[in-house]
Amino acid sequence: MNLLPDVEGWLTEAQAARLDRCARAVPDGGRIVEIGSFRGRSTIVLARAAAAGAEVVAIDPHLGSDRGPQEIAARPELGEQDTQIFRANLERHGVLDRVRHVRMLSSEAPLEDAIDMLYVDGAHRFGPARDDLVRWGARVRDGGTMLVHDSFSSIGVTLALLASVTFSRRWRYAGRDGSLAEYVADGGGPSSAMRQLAQLPWFAYNVVLKVLTVLRIRRGPWPY
Ligand SMILES: C[S@@+](CC[C@H](N)C(=O)[O-])C[C@H]1O[C@@H](n2cnc3c(N)ncnc32)[C@H](O)[C@@H]1O
Repeated sequence: MNLLPDVEGWLTEAQAARLDRCARAVPDGGRIVEIGSFRGRSTIVLARAAAAGAEVVAIDPHLGSDRGPQEIAARPELGEQDTQIFRANLERHGVLDRVRHVRMLSSEAPLEDAIDMLYVDGAHRFGPARDDLVRWGARVRDGGTMLVHDSFSSIGVTLALLASVTFSRRWRYAGRDGSLAEYVADGGGPSSAMRQLAQLPWFAYNVVLKVLTVLRIRRGPWPY
């Protein structure tokens, strides 16, 4: 079954399958929080997989800032378009009522309690990415999951992971599909850290691809 909705965004079929599997594991009455929804590609995957009684919270200020590859500065007119298209996409896929959109920066949004599944795909710069991993990650209940997009592909996200997750005693690395890494809050340790450090050659490869793309030596998809 094709899990990917026909919505613009950055998520592969394999990544959608991982999000789908993790969202299905969230119990009825549980809570899924997404940081960075863009036009709803991943939000729709999460909302379709969530149990009827699970809450799905989508945090995205839609300011047109930190929007996608090389789109850091705010462009409010694009952000406004994103929020309208986001809503229309959710409606078209029958999940508008299933999602609570918090139109705020994750750093300003009220922290949700007892998160069962956290999906981090907001601002990819080091500071905000680390803030999401630390502040929002702390709200994931023991045994819950945290998924991080652009891990081992974006410099900011990868450094944020190295600074706050890779060597933590809480987060166990549970593998990745492309740049989508999965962590379980049931105890990190040396083997979890080693398995993450083993991804660094792939990270270096992605950085080279990005540099070649920026220099226009390479054409092709931005790696994620
Ligand atoms: C890479 S896109 C998300 C892609 C989306 N998950 C998908 O599947 O297509 C990043 C999104 O993060 C949002 N964003 C940027 N800064 C943010 C912040 N501080 N808090 C929450 N969301 C943020 C942007 O508005 C943008 O829509």
